[in-house]
Amino acid sequence: MSKISVAVLVGSPRAGSWSRKLADALIALAPPDFDFSVVDINGLPLFNPDLDQRGVEPPAPWTAFRGALRPAQALLFITPEYNRSVPAVLKNALEIGSRPYGQSVWAGKPAAIASQSSGMMGGFGANHHLRQILVFLDVHVLAQPEIYLNQVDKLFDDKGALLEGPGRDLLVRFMGQFHGYVGRHLPAGV
Ligand code: FNR
Repeated sequence: MSKISVAVLVGSPRAGSWSRKLADALIALAPPDFDFSVVDINGLPLFNPDLDQRGVEPPAPWTAFRGALRPAQALLFITPEYNRSVPAVLKNALEIGSRPYGQSVWAGKPAAIASQSSGMMGGFGANHHLRQILVFLDVHVLAQPEIYLNQVDKLFDDKGALLEGPGRDLLVRFMGQFHGYVGRHLPAGV
């Protein structure tokens, strides 16, 4: 049976990002028939519709990004919260993938979101702003279990390995639910 391709988008540009550690942990806990690729969004030039006009060559990193996302059958978003919303690097990637008009790389795909914070709120604001954006982009987001991981540093040991405990158990359950959900919502023609 062929594997299901899942593009992973990490909403933090930071070296040593907790979001990236969380992404790696989720990938390691996932069922084996998922084929993950972490798509880099950090170097993407800022979106500007002028650069998508007919007759204009869009920036090469946009074209590469769109090409990496188009064949993905499912999407996994891991994000911190910046000022109660989605970090600009992730919003920029969402804009770029949504255009040119009618050629969105997002539409019709199943997705899941995990947010995290070193504080107590777990990135709830970012998580739900992202859900709002994805509704418009016709991305079908897993409802439960929700993941708002607060005090994310406590999930990992000092070597960066995921600790046993309720946090890990939630991540396992999340990936199991996501797997079943993707199986029921595979996009047509991808
Ligand atoms: C933050 N952080 C933060 N945390 C939070 O819970 N709510 C918030 O609104 C913000 N706002 C915010 C703005 C800016 C500009 C920065 C740099 C940070 C904290 C941040 O989300 C938290 O430390 C994350 O754990 C960082 O994730 P990464 O970058 O390690 O993946």
